[in-house]
Amino acid sequence: MKQTTPAAVGQVSRTQREPEARTQEMVEDGSPVVDVRDLEKSYRTARGTLQLFSKLNLRVEAREMVAIVGQSGAGKSTLLHILGALDTPSAGTVYCASTDVARLTPRQAAAFRNREIGYVWQFHYLLPEFTALENVAMPLQARGIHRRDAQKTAADWLKEVGLEERGDHRSGELSGGEQQRVALARALVNRPRLLLADEPTGDLDAITAERIFEVIERLHASHGLTSILVTHNLELAARCARILRLENGCLREVASASKNKDVIGLQERSGK
Ligand SMILES: Nc1ncnc2c1ncn2[C@@H]1O[C@H](COP(=O)(O)OP(=O)(O)OP(=O)(O)O)[C@@H](O)[C@H]1O
Ligand SMILES: [Mg+2]
Repeated sequence: MKQTTPAAVGQVSRTQREPEARTQEMVEDGSPVVDVRDLEKSYRTARGTLQLFSKLNLRVEAREMVAIVGQSGAGKSTLLHILGALDTPSAGTVYCASTDVARLTPRQAAAFRNREIGYVWQFHYLLPEFTALENVAMPLQARGIHRRDAQKTAADWLKEVGLEERGDHRSGELSGGEQQRVALARALVNRPRLLLADEPTGDLDAITAERIFEVIERLHASHGLTSILVTHNLELAARCARILRLENGCLREVASASKNKDVIGLQERSGK
């Protein structure tokens, strides 16, 4: 599968068949939302093969909020790309939202991303020529929902992120925090099962980062989301139910009982 640019996420053709409809029972059937076994990923580079993961395992249950931390270059973004069918594993199995993501064709992968995954990146990737409302409505319209209905739902989501009065602003007419709120609304407008956020507060000042994180926490709880957040902000990571550290190609659980102490340990090791 070809790598897809973030801006293309959520855009599927109108004629595309949607993945199987999921009933509430399927969502709550007790199986993990993410089940990764023995994942390996290698890249061929001019200097040889770069082996990123060594039989990495990850299980995330429905409604969990998990933080992934780790040094720059450890493979955090690559892991999220694989979970969201933006990149493929070299070996191992990756089940995400009951889907074997490695087996999806590019068309199926696009539909899977549109329906099951909400992505938020460090940079918002809003389309600058469209208004906030139009940006949020876009994933719905990509599914074939009529513009008027899509914009109605989009307006509800802008309200959810506290931006009902900014719907007609283009992205350049929004602050960094507002842009990220719009990106969050766009990520969730299709009611995905899984929210994948890659340093969602990385580009923001401390106070704005805190506010965005609060919005993520609120939406995670109120919409029954399962969320995986990659962050370098260890204080925010400590607010997640679980913290996993990606190191030497594997994920290591940071003990929750002494989470704060472990996070301080992480801080010392990473030199931050
Ligand atoms: N398409 C690619 N081809 C070759 N190497 C790649 C490719 N994509 C990523 N890498 C390499 O894989 C490693 C992990 O990259 P990744 O972006 O996943 O790191 P990260 O943990 O997200 O880092 P950061 O915290 O800086 O965002 C890096 O060394 C990177 O150079
Ligand atoms: Mg990264």
